[in-house]
Amino acid sequence: MESFSFYNPTRVLFGKGQIGKIGKELKKADIKSCLMIAGGGSIRKNGVYDQVCESLKANKIEWIESWGVQPNPTVEKVREMIALAKESSVDAILAVGGGSVIDSGKATAAGIFLNDIWNAYVDKEKIIRALPIFTILTISGTGSEMNGNSVLTLSSEKKKWSISSKLLYPKVSIIDPSIQATLSFQQTVNGAIDAISHILEYIFMNETAVVTRNIDAGLIKTIVKMTDRLQQDANDYTARANLAWSATLALNGISGVGLQGGDWACHSIEHALSAIDPKIAHGEGLGVIFPAWIEYVSEREPNRFSWWVKEVSEEDSVARALRKCRETLKRWGSATNLRELGIRESQLPEIRDLLLTYGPIGEIVRFRAEDIEALLMLAY
Ligand code: NZQ
Ligand code: ZN
Repeated sequence: MESFSFYNPTRVLFGKGQIGKIGKELKKADIKSCLMIAGGGSIRKNGVYDQVCESLKANKIEWIESWGVQPNPTVEKVREMIALAKESSVDAILAVGGGSVIDSGKATAAGIFLNDIWNAYVDKEKIIRALPIFTILTISGTGSEMNGNSVLTLSSEKKKWSISSKLLYPKVSIIDPSIQATLSFQQTVNGAIDAISHILEYIFMNETAVVTRNIDAGLIKTIVKMTDRLQQDANDYTARANLAWSATLALNGISGVGLQGGDWACHSIEHALSAIDPKIAHGEGLGVIFPAWIEYVSEREPNRFSWWVKEVSEEDSVARALRKCRETLKRWGSATNLRELGIRESQLPEIRDLLLTYGPIGEIVRFRAEDIEALLMLAY
């Protein structure tokens, strides 16, 4: 097993009725005022916003609000939120939403101490401080509620890049799976595919982290089964809860212990797709890229995939395991090729060129221009 360092300081409050505890958690942390960050309004419809406001009032926490974070969030919007946070001298950030809202919250928390937040994403400035971050998660998938990552897009250059810092772990995250019943099935699936992909980025790295890979096999199988159940019944709480916690575990450090930090080629490639077209959901993009990546890389290194074929897919060849994977995506109504994502063949060179500006891509196979082209053609 590879040597590793494991760190996770986020406290999670999980289950029905936990959202009402947010005010008390802020008060315990000596927070007097916060900036509440939200997306396009789903939290108004499903009652989450009202629960949060009530709890803040009951605990005498003052707050201001910033709405309108879009899926695949932009640095331009974050700059606005940083200005607001500075102007009102808040003590903390409260992100209420999905990965996009939480990532924007993290960037705001760090950005008020920097010349410009984008500098941190391009390694020109180091994150030195951040306001304490609290989150209420409303869609499971990214794991952002329990990790130190944030992904933003600089729209003007179509660069969707990430940062990772121990200062960006939320202090407290509340996960009430029951509020995810208002997600469309497609959004539920996007989260499920994202969580599975986080595990897949790790598990092909080596064979010696036996315990981690067995946990990971259990997580993937649970996510698939729970998503199938939610396709039948969006209000199946057991399925929501197990899917939610699996997704958190898929990117909070546990799923990657001893797996050398993972490969992450598929994430880089997907980030270029959703940077070029922000209407592409991160999870759906991964559902197209990951099978193509396995197909491409397994031709060079078939043995690397044997464990996944047998223990995760319960099949006897990579080809059969991939067929099963694509059938699952189809059953869930998710895209299985770039055309279904709305990408045109004429855009492939643009995606390749953009990716070449993203820095080194992949560990197992380091993707050069010709590998990217071949992979995109396979995915097309
Ligand atoms: O904006 P609102 O109105 O809230 O609607 C959202 C949004 O349209 C909606 N939604 C969320 N909760 C809902 C709901 N609708 C009904 N009921 C609810 N309970 O869902 C839509 C998608 O939300 P978003 O936050 O964009 O989804 P997700 O959590 O998948 O986040 C995706 C972003 O996170 C990044 C992705 O690249 C993408 O930008 N990632 C972040 C990571 C991290 N921080 O560790 C890792 C990931 O690999 C990923 O890159
Ligand atoms: Zn992801």
